[in-house]
Amino acid sequence: MARPRADGDRGVRGLRRSGPALLLALPAMAGADDLGREVFTAKATPPCAVCHTLAAAGATGEVGPSLDELKPTRSQILEAVRSGVGVMPRYTGLLTEEQIRAVADFVHESTSGN
Ligand code: HEC
Repeated sequence: MARPRADGDRGVRGLRRSGPALLLALPAMAGADDLGREVFTAKATPPCAVCHTLAAAGATGEVGPSLDELKPTRSQILEAVRSGVGVMPRYTGLLTEEQIRAVADFVHESTSGN
C-alpha cells in the first residue's frame, strides 16, 4: 500500500531525532515493520484494526482508543496485547512472541516516531 507523503516525512524527522542507535537498528526494523503491520491488519484474531484507528495501517476502528492520538509507549502496547485491557482480548497464546513484539514495534514507531 502506498504511504502518504506526509507520513514519510514525519518518519524521517523522527529518525533524525533518535540518532545513531536507531539507524543501526534499521535493517532489523524493516522486517518487523512489515510483520507488525500484517499482525495489526490481518494476522491477529480479531485484528487490531477492527477496533483501533492507526493511520499507518489504514485502520479506522472506533471500539478502542485511536492509537494515533494515544501514542502508547512500547511497554504499554506489549502489556495490552499480552494481557488484554477492558474489552480488548489478550493475545498471549494466539500470537507468537515474535508477532507480539513486531506489532508493538510497528504501533510504537508509527505513532511516536521514536
Ligand atoms: C475487540 C476490540 C479490540 C481489539 C481487537 C484490539 N483492541 Fe486494543 N483496545 C481496545 C479497547 C476497548 C481498549 C481500551 C481498554 C480500556 O481502557 O478499558 C484498548 C486499548 C489498547 C491500548 C491502550 C492500552 C493502555 O494502556 O491504555 C493499546 C496500546 C492497544 N489497545 C493496542 C492493540 C493492539 C496492538 C491490538 C492487536 C494486537 C489491539 N489493541 C486489539 C479494543 C481492542
